[in-house]
Amino acid sequence: MHLRHLSLTNFRLYSRLEVDLPSQAILLYGDNAQGKTSLLEAIYVLATGRSSHTTSDRQLINWLASEEGLTPHARLAADVVRADRSLHIDMVLMLEPAKTEDGWRFRKQIKVNGAVVRTTDLIGQIAVVMFLPDDVEIVSGSPANRRRYLDNALAQVDVDYARALDLYGEVLSQRNALLRQLAETGGDLDQLIYWDEQLASAGTTITLKRQSMIAELEALADRLHRDLTHERHTLRLRYQPAFNADLPTAHVYQPGLNLDLPTRSPEATFEQARQSFLKQLHTKRSEELARGSTLVGPHRDELRFIADEIDLGVYGSRGQQRTAILAMKLAEVHWMREKINDWPILLLDEVMAELDVHRRGFLLNQINGANQAILTSTDPEMFTAEFRRQAKMVKVIRGRIEI
Ligand SMILES: Nc1ncnc2c1ncn2[C@@H]1O[C@H](COP(=O)(O)OP(=O)(O)OP(=O)(O)O)[C@@H](O)[C@H]1O
Ligand SMILES: [Mg+2]
Repeated sequence: MHLRHLSLTNFRLYSRLEVDLPSQAILLYGDNAQGKTSLLEAIYVLATGRSSHTTSDRQLINWLASEEGLTPHARLAADVVRADRSLHIDMVLMLEPAKTEDGWRFRKQIKVNGAVVRTTDLIGQIAVVMFLPDDVEIVSGSPANRRRYLDNALAQVDVDYARALDLYGEVLSQRNALLRQLAETGGDLDQLIYWDEQLASAGTTITLKRQSMIAELEALADRLHRDLTHERHTLRLRYQPAFNADLPTAHVYQPGLNLDLPTRSPEATFEQARQSFLKQLHTKRSEELARGSTLVGPHRDELRFIADEIDLGVYGSRGQQRTAILAMKLAEVHWMREKINDWPILLLDEVMAELDVHRRGFLLNQINGANQAILTSTDPEMFTAEFRRQAKMVKVIRGRIEI
């Protein structure tokens, strides 16, 4: 698939942008702070309804628009060409005056082919895989980075996952609030039953889907990792789901659950896994009440990257971590392509800088077949002359572009 036309109004530093994008590799180049990353981010927002960065939604709206208008808003629109259809996506991000702490409420309106839809209806419309310079933190950073990585990929192709994730987040905060309330003022513990059931259902969906995705990704990433390291090093993914991980009597649940065996079908184990989730909630209840937070469930999942038996998050060099994440990201591209039967749009932000010549060549070769890959760089010289000849070169200057 590819984006044929992109239109931005008051999105970050872009006050107005209309651009046709060809179906090929596109290299956005220009000095620092000119708007290269923001353009990739805009496409990511259109595809997922969320920012690729961990910024708040309101930061996406041009700050001059925020100063001027009564209801500051940004608008993003795109014409998308897919193997089997074309579509038009239109998104308005707005701040409305409200009786909140800071006096504003953020709202998003999304239309697909003119009809208003919910964010989850965006799933399956535009698929993107984004490569960011910070991606190495998926390996080296906190577990939250790894969970976000899994969520971002899965929620793009699996509606049930995206719904379970939204529901889980809501249930988790309600349940935590109730735990705190019960701890502070007492009350009937049976109030937890409803929330436990909800949490276990959504949580089990998330865990099992993560589990099968990780198994699929591992096979792809391992092969890519061997290629990247000249057949020398294996890459394994060790998933540690948090609803059977820290039980000393794990073997009691293990036989039915088998959560660490990636070959087991999610459907077959769903009910058993859900029951195990509920059991663990009961076991942890007094501790949860004491701490006022939920201690069981995928919000505490962990994923480790193991190269030749070595945990890269702990012992990997920066270069080894980078290689692993490059293999993971390329695996994600192949995985997504398989799921949606089409090439996702690839967005690569400043990825060449930290790669050696072999890895640069490998990456460019891998993305060669994509319908559309949009890359950014402050220095186009980092790309081979051949790549630059074949790619569409686009210069970005302070929120405007020169083709
Ligand atoms: N809401 C906003 N309104 C206006 N400008 C913004 C907003 N958010 C960010 N900016 C500005 O947009 C500019 C461009 O940012 P962007 O990250 O897209 O640049 P870049 O070309 O990728 O630069 P670099 O090469 O440094 O990565 C920055 O100067 C930033 O401060
Ligand atoms: Mg940038």
